[in-house]
Amino acid sequence: MSDSFHLKNKIALVTGAASGIGAATARELAHAGAQVFIADLNLTAAESLASELTEARAIRMDVTDSASIAEAFARISHLDILVNNAGIGLVGDIARTSEEDFERVMRVNVNSVFMVTKAALPLLLASRGSIINIGSVAGSVGVKQRFAYCASKGAVQAMTRQIAVDYPKELRVNCIAPGTVQTPFVEGYLEKYHSHEIEKVRAELVARQPIGRLGTPEDIASLVRYLCSQEAEFINGAVIPIDGGWTAA
Ligand code: NAI
Repeated sequence: MSDSFHLKNKIALVTGAASGIGAATARELAHAGAQVFIADLNLTAAESLASELTEARAIRMDVTDSASIAEAFARISHLDILVNNAGIGLVGDIARTSEEDFERVMRVNVNSVFMVTKAALPLLLASRGSIINIGSVAGSVGVKQRFAYCASKGAVQAMTRQIAVDYPKELRVNCIAPGTVQTPFVEGYLEKYHSHEIEKVRAELVARQPIGRLGTPEDIASLVRYLCSQEAEFINGAVIPIDGGWTAA
């Protein structure tokens, strides 16, 4: 059996790992041999996932709260891989976006990457580790009715490139920019904003991805695994789209 892309003896922490892309990533990293901290606001769901995996541990972390982040990192003495995945969406153009909602999206999607990465930095420098930020195509192109979300994911791309230039030899940091992926995040959006036309809007989401389907959490998790493996040693400061061809158009 091929030993490619293995993560044996690596310790990883995935934020927002109790659901969707984060959960698939935690599973994939564990299958690759890593020990995984499943960090999430939702400790019950994190514990349930951890119980399915060997070498996984649930940890409560609110990525918007520096005290909660510090408490979680107080329990971690070594870290090779940080996946900044926790994030939320918001629908609305600039006129419909309130200051409170804008700040909430920025706190969860942007400040979190700053604060969690800063807390993890000494450990990642010690291990010459790897950071994967989960951005979005919304950071690369304008998406209708996603003013705050686009702004936040643009910042995730910018933070990725900036950290890469400050620490070019000390660690690696890359950003994955997924198109629409079938997760509770998308189902919640369909139910909240389009409850009378779920299948019509789902078909529109599929149609903007030339490949003709939504992504799966596993599509994204495989790329996370690759990017933090030894085989991806030469990839640094990159923003990698994984969107069924959406942004190629
Ligand atoms: P999801 O809603 O299925 O899971 C998000 C997880 O983050 C949940 O377990 C939630 O409890 C956790 N979380 C939320 N706020 C938190 C906080 N303050 N502290 C700690 N954990 C928190 O979402 P999904 O779809 O898996 O998204 C994950 C990431 O992927 C997000 O950053 C999202 O913006 C990004 N993304 C998702 C896409 C999609 O179509 N699903 C497309 C492109 C990017």
